Amino acid sequence: MHSTREIKKDIIYVGASDRRLALFENLFPLTDGVAYNSYVILDEKTVLLDTVDASISMQYLENVEYALKGRTLDYLVINHMEPDHCANIESIVFRYPHVKLVGNTKTFQFFEQFYNLKDQENYYVVKEGDELSLGKRTLKFFMAPMVHWPEVMMTYETTEGILFSADAFGAFGALDGNIFADEFNYRVRTADEARRYYVNIVGKYGVNVMNVMKKFNELPINMICPLHGPVLRTEEDVTFLRDKYTQWATYEAEEKSVLLIYGSMYGNTENAISYIAHRLANKGIRNIRIYDVSKTDPSYIISDMWVYSNFVIASPNYNGDVYFKVENLLREALSLSIKKRKVSFVTNFSWGGKALKTMQELLETGKDIEFIGEPVEIKSSVKEENEEALEALAEAIAQSVSV
Ligand code: FEO
Repeated sequence: MHSTREIKKDIIYVGASDRRLALFENLFPLTDGVAYNSYVILDEKTVLLDTVDASISMQYLENVEYALKGRTLDYLVINHMEPDHCANIESIVFRYPHVKLVGNTKTFQFFEQFYNLKDQENYYVVKEGDELSLGKRTLKFFMAPMVHWPEVMMTYETTEGILFSADAFGAFGALDGNIFADEFNYRVRTADEARRYYVNIVGKYGVNVMNVMKKFNELPINMICPLHGPVLRTEEDVTFLRDKYTQWATYEAEEKSVLLIYGSMYGNTENAISYIAHRLANKGIRNIRIYDVSKTDPSYIISDMWVYSNFVIASPNYNGDVYFKVENLLREALSLSIKKRKVSFVTNFSWGGKALKTMQELLETGKDIEFIGEPVEIKSSVKEENEEALEALAEAIAQSVSV
């Protein structure tokens, strides 16, 4: 049975959610599923904006057929050629053989790389600023390279100011009938997942995100329709997420506070982190957060790395070097271009090792990463003799947070 919603007169949401998928991109844990969004516009011409993942094809194709009300499909706009959105293009072409596929030259390059169908007679190639008249409405195309792949473009409906934003402004999480952010408690339930999605999927490409955002500075945006997560239709929600994107894309911390991240085999390195956290709290630092790298998936920790101004990284020496999961986390965060952060270190060793050196060398490859305080080295467990050094480090961190 179809499950659709009209988001504006003659614009119909035809997407669906996958609540079974455990790992998005086979990497990122999904605790509440994920939505794959797609939209039909009925005008003198009919348009479908993107398709969906293969996991929800049956529901999706039924939705599209219902939304078209017996009409054929004139255009399929391909804003993004990643399989979670393009897996049904061939099915759409088989059902509506005269459909024109709208994309840029890279779109069609990827299309032919992924699939066997070559439908060049039906390619409708667009470039920056091109317009497509549907009758009453007009679509305008803006290239958005690397947000999140090179071929990505966004489609702007000019009459009502609706932005079909591809992956941008999306979020993890299934949609439960309430497809609009203002129909449920978006700030509590979804905003963190919008950041985890942004940071882990698009976070590396902050400059590209800012370049695209500038294109829309002069255009009214009354509704944002992303490819994942809820549709934003109130001025408050649109402004909220646009402001967040500006902050995230420029790597500006949201909280002047401290994120403490540790690996700990037997609790001794954790003990040092706990001590520092309590000293920081005594000094008036609020919203402190501690993560154990062995317990929490990196995607959550890295998402919070976009929030906090300061990190403390603590690692035991393991095989004479940094603990594997700490190293993995740092490499992942750096590959996503984390920058503009203040970092302090704690290490633990029983007979030696180069964990501190490795962590410092890794973070020195990042941009605008400042090291705060003297690193503290624990010998096996925290003792009274460490108190002075830990207190001094906490004081240096507290001072740097208040700057
Ligand atoms: Fe949701 Fe970049 O694909």
